[in-house]
Formats: sequence, C-alpha cells, structure tokens
Amino acid sequence: MVRTMTDDSGAAAGERAVARCDVLGVSPFSDEIDLLYRPWLGPGFIATVEAISNWMRQAGMTVRQDAATNLIGRYEGTMPDAPALLFGSHLDSVRDGGRYDGMLGVIAALEVVAGFHERGERFPFAIEIVGFGDEEGSRFPITMLTTRSIAGVLEEDDPVAAFAELRDGNGLTVEQALARVGLTPRGMAAARRPKDSVLAYVEAHIEQGPVLEAEGRALGVVSGIAAQRRFEIRVHGMAGHAGTMAMSLRQDALTAAAEMVLAIERIGMAGGDRDGLVATVGLLRTWPGVANVVPGDVTFTIDARAGTIATRDRAVNEILAALKDIAERRGVEIEIIPRENLDPSPCDPHLMTLMETAVQDVTGEPARVLVSGAGHDAMIMSRLAPMAMLFIRCEKGISHNPAEAVLPADVGEAVTALTRFVRLFADDYSKTQGRHSA
Ligand code: GLV
Ligand code: MN
Ligand code: MN
Repeated sequence: MVRTMTDDSGAAAGERAVARCDVLGVSPFSDEIDLLYRPWLGPGFIATVEAISNWMRQAGMTVRQDAATNLIGRYEGTMPDAPALLFGSHLDSVRDGGRYDGMLGVIAALEVVAGFHERGERFPFAIEIVGFGDEEGSRFPITMLTTRSIAGVLEEDDPVAAFAELRDGNGLTVEQALARVGLTPRGMAAARRPKDSVLAYVEAHIEQGPVLEAEGRALGVVSGIAAQRRFEIRVHGMAGHAGTMAMSLRQDALTAAAEMVLAIERIGMAGGDRDGLVATVGLLRTWPGVANVVPGDVTFTIDARAGTIATRDRAVNEILAALKDIAERRGVEIEIIPRENLDPSPCDPHLMTLMETAVQDVTGEPARVLVSGAGHDAMIMSRLAPMAMLFIRCEKGISHNPAEAVLPADVGEAVTALTRFVRLFADDYSKTQGRHSA
C-alpha cells in the first residue's frame, strides 16, 4: 500500500485513543461489574463525562454540559464566538456492548484537537466535540433525545409528550431520570444550536460491518445511513395454570409472540439482502414469567431497516399485517406502538469529497465509499448541518458485542485523516469567506 502521508503522532494518538476507550470499558465507567453497560445518566455515564471532561481540558478545550446532558468541549478559533465545526458520537452503550461503538468517535476527535492544541494550530472557526447521551436507546425505548435537542428537532419529533410514560428497566420515567440531575424534558429543548453556529457535523465510528476488513482497508467514507423504524408490540393473551389449562383452550401470549418473531424473520429474509433490508426482535419479555403459568402478556420490539423508505415500509406493512393475522388466529390481542421513525440520511456530497480526499492522502488509495446500516447521531445532526462520517475497520465486523475490536494503527490513520479533513475544510472555508467578503 502506498502512503503519501506518514505521521508518527497519528500512531501514538491511535494507541492512546484505544487505551482510553479500554479504560472507559469497565467499572466505574460501566454500571455492571462483569460487562460494559453504560446507559444514559447512569453512574457509569456520569463518571465517563467527568473523565472525558478532564481529557478535553488537557487538550485545550473549554467544557460544558448543555441542558440535554450533552458533553461539549470547545477549542476556540482565531476569533471569539466563531461558528464551529462539530465532531461527535455517543457516550452510552448497549447492554454487554463493545468499548468502541460511539466512544471511539469522541475519543478519536479528542486526539485530533489535542494535536492542534500541541502545535498551537487554530482555524477561523472553533472545533467542538459533542458526547451525546442516548444514541442506543438501551435505557429508554426511544433513541437520540439529546441529539434531537441540539439539532432543535425535539419538539418537532415530539417525543417530549411521551417522557412521562417511557420507562427504563427499573420503572423510572425519562422525566424522573432527568429530575435526578436537575433537568426537565421541556428544558432539554434549550440545548438547541442556532443553525448559523454550526458549520458541519462529522462523526467517526467503527464500521460495525465486515466490508473494510474484507477489502483490507483501514478507513471508509460513508455515503448515507439506512432508514429505521422501531415498534413495541404488546401481546395480550390469558394467564392460566400450567397444569390444568387444556392445550386447546389456551390463549398463550408467548407462543403467539414466538410465531410473530418467526414471521418477522421470514419477511426480513425475503428481502434477500436487497436494499439492506433487515428486521430484528431484540427484546422480549413475558408476564408473569414463571414456570407454572401460561404466559398472559408478552412485550417485544421490532427494529426494521433498509436503504430506502419504500423497502423498509413495504416490509413493515407486511410484518404488521402478519402479526394481526397471527393474533386473530390465536385469539390474542395486540397493541402496536410506534417508537422510532428515521428516514435515510444521505451524507453531504461536498463534505464527502473532502473526507475522500483526506482518506486518500493518508492511505494512498482512493477511499472506499459505503452505506451505514447502523444508526448514528449523524442521522439527527444532518437536520441541523451538513454531515459526513468516517468509518474505521473493526475486527470481523463484530459490534454490539463485547468482542468488538479495533487496531490502534487504524485509529491512528483515522486521527490523521480527520486532521487532514479539518485542514481541507479550513482551506475551503477561507475561500468561501473570501468570496463572501469580496
Ligand atoms: C445503534 O447502534 C443502532 O444502529 O441501533
Ligand atoms: Mn454507535
Ligand atoms: Mn450502537
């Protein structure tokens, strides 16, 4: 492989970034001793905010937390109050997750800024790094409330109305969780950033898929993010005595749900990977959940994604129709509660070109461009500002799994490419500003 830019400081930055993610992958930065689980506003999350704040200060940034709990570090530009180029990703993790999903995007950006700080390099714009709160939705059954707050679309999407109802695994509502840190749902909207204060949003993230590794590449440039929909399904049958209730007379909510789960898999597979269609049931709870009771109630989730709204919605409609048929045939009731509806998010073509140039300058090869099947804060941030994403190879494409792994050398290349991107962005910005003032 021909490299046109080699950078020893990039390699050291890669080592340090991975080491920092590893530190944050265990207690007290996780709420569980034996595995990584960092839900929004849990003790591990709060400890993580503290640790990253210190690292941000060391990198010459001022640090604050906004009204939606987002952690924001700011590296000033050559002029005070300049608009900012935003980097970011999420601080939360799924239960039993990996150490790099989300966190690496924040920590790699921190290395980029630390490099500028060390060299005394400043730009006509500020650089900010945002650590978002709840991208995963692994605490409450809704995602990216803190991202929506910054992007100014919290009220528009109106999840606020549901804050008193949405509960975590301990029965705490969003409203109650926010109250514990002195915040309110309506108050989160105050985190809204004026559009003219943000020039662009850039997110680096592990690929969470196998393409880059299969092609022997460290980095990739994202062209867009797949569309998503999520639902909560509640199946109501009738609880009964497991020893006396005749099989033919049962309204077993779990066997009905089991048939529904298989229908969802069948419809997801019928897409034959066309247009990236995937459908998943990731959570299923039975009530009362004991050995000698026919299950009376079951709750499960559906997560459906595809490259286009048409493919995703065709599958969703087919799934919901199948669920209703199964419920009718088995004599159970179902409630279908929509939880998430995210359109596909194309990356900004001009920023993509800058990122492709940066990647090519660092790796010596034309950049691989790929679609993201995983969701990212960038989906929401693209509603505030032009957005771009850089993917970093991860081992076997494994993610949402403690086996998630990255090579420090790849992260070093990512830091060097992001550094290059900022300089290209700055050249571009100066030209545009020159044109405006001419
Ligand atoms: C986040 O990781 C998602 O894609 O759901
Ligand atoms: Mn992520
Ligand atoms: Mn994730």
